Amino acid sequence: MTSKITIAIDGFSSTGKSTLAKQLAKELGYAYVDTGAMYRAITLFAMQNGYINNDFFDKESLIHSLSFIRLRFKFRPELGFAVMILNDIDVESEIRTIEVSGFVSKIAEIDEVRAKLVEQQQEMGKGKGIVMDGRDIGTVVFPEAELKLYMNANAQTRAQRRFDELVSKGDTVTFEEVYNNVVERDYIDTHRANSPLVKAVDAIEIDNSAMTRGEQFSFVLDLVKKII
Ligand code: DC
Repeated sequence: MTSKITIAIDGFSSTGKSTLAKQLAKELGYAYVDTGAMYRAITLFAMQNGYINNDFFDKESLIHSLSFIRLRFKFRPELGFAVMILNDIDVESEIRTIEVSGFVSKIAEIDEVRAKLVEQQQEMGKGKGIVMDGRDIGTVVFPEAELKLYMNANAQTRAQRRFDELVSKGDTVTFEEVYNNVVERDYIDTHRANSPLVKAVDAIEIDNSAMTRGEQFSFVLDLVKKII
């Protein structure tokens, strides 16, 4: 019998965490949880309710509304992954826009938001057999995870990947906007007081600037097989 493990993948934005996590989950028959989608969904909720815009942020009202936010993932077989459901509405495409990316780091700094989401994430991973990606998975959510990966790539490469993805979805963004957002989020994610992005001491660092998806996947699958 093979034992189920917990795989924690952390790293900067657009380092291919979700691509790798989805590949691993499919191969191993594990659940995949994209925790960034949860922070993005709360950001979308804040935008829809007028709590945040370019020159205004009503943090207290958002904190008071947190109990009205229900988040869940729903597996869509036709897509091969689970989409984010915010209060019974599929928001998978709305949460990926540059506008949401522009506000999400401010929302992810709020202690009450993090406490709510970390609790939900720990509950989802109770039975192991899970691949979870984010910024604090190996350090805060699952410090006992059997395999921890810390992904990195240079900012130019990451911005290009995110830009190509947005353009292919029909978004009208400039490369400069995307690059600035990547650099700004790197700074906020690594400098916030609560659960900043740091490499867990026992995490394996992967810089995939010059690696293909296939090379990266087989490298990580070997690591998993050694542990299982
Ligand atoms: O992975 P992503 O780029 O979709 O994540 C969006 C933002 O959410 C990211 O800028 C930081 C925040 N985040 C976080 O603080 N902790 C997590 N576990 C996941 C994401």
